[in-house]
Amino acid sequence: MGAVDPYYAFKWVDGSDLECAGYLSVLDQRLLPHKLHYLDLTEYCQVADAIRDMVVRGAPAIGAVAAYGYVLGLRQGESADQVYRTLCASRPTAVNLQWALDRLRALHEPDWKRLLAHVHGMVAHEREVNKRIAENGAKEILAYWNKRSGKGSSRTLHVLHHCNTGTLATAGGGTALGVIRSLHALHKNLVVHVNETRPRLQGARLTCWELSQWGIPHELSVDAVAPLLMAQGRVDIVTVGADRIAADGSTANKVGTYMCAVSAQYHNVPFFVCAPCNTIDLKTPTGAEILIEQRSATEVLNPLEGPPETWFAPQQTSVYNPAFDITPPELITGGIVTEVGIIRLRTSDDPAPSIAEQLQR
Ligand code: MRU
Repeated sequence: MGAVDPYYAFKWVDGSDLECAGYLSVLDQRLLPHKLHYLDLTEYCQVADAIRDMVVRGAPAIGAVAAYGYVLGLRQGESADQVYRTLCASRPTAVNLQWALDRLRALHEPDWKRLLAHVHGMVAHEREVNKRIAENGAKEILAYWNKRSGKGSSRTLHVLHHCNTGTLATAGGGTALGVIRSLHALHKNLVVHVNETRPRLQGARLTCWELSQWGIPHELSVDAVAPLLMAQGRVDIVTVGADRIAADGSTANKVGTYMCAVSAQYHNVPFFVCAPCNTIDLKTPTGAEILIEQRSATEVLNPLEGPPETWFAPQQTSVYNPAFDITPPELITGGIVTEVGIIRLRTSDDPAPSIAEQLQR
């Protein structure tokens, strides 16, 4: 699915001669939707900077990119511990980053070429995982939709999506947006309501761009419109991705997700989280233990990084800018769509087994 896209979030480019040992090419997502510009990274510190500065973002994508960064670090002759620490610190909430680096470090493989082959394997696996998430999610949502509106109904399915979870955010065709893409292939009559996703506008800049590449009808709103859309009966399901899912199902995702989940429950709209199993962090018991990344005041006060007259608020305004929020499990009423199937969460109507038990089945 992602492979047929004429763009990619990142790609390893093999060296063509002895002078060049290969490099990591990443799409600079800060320039989208206006410019498709790739940066060539040859050093692990450049990779850490690219993750921190949001050149590349989205939990699965930064996990994969950090893995390539680890290879670059070892190729530079840097100590594995130093490279691990620098990359791990680049963004703290997405567990995929730490997961990928932990796996590589545990190999104790000093040969960077063998490590590179291993990372290629991890990325290929992630692509397959994305495909399975897309299939499982589309099947589940279509079954729900057929039950609700009558099998074969041509009624338009309205899906609300927050942030960006497509090819840009992953190693493959996406998580929640991958599900939406598969759903659209099965049920043409579908509209995506895209939350703009303040303050960095991943919904407006990236999701609208990807949906238009894919020919999927969509409509953009400012984030605060989501509850109103639900009150007006204009949302049938909500799908989002995840940066870290605690053992109890509490889900860290882009700030604004929790607001959508609260509204969805109030309006009886199923709420689905779509994520690979490596986003589930069984070592973190609940949402309270998830570290939420705090980002700069500039993102909120002066996102255009322009002169004072273009600032969005008085210059001295104090700002609280968490990048993520936590949605408690009882609000994830549709469940977590993974590559191994749908994980149900404990709600007042469903005394589901724990996530760990469901993963063991
Ligand atoms: O700050 P970002 O853009 O990295 O945040 C991304 C999200 O919150 C995504 O929803 C999440 O990483 C899942 S991506 C498949």
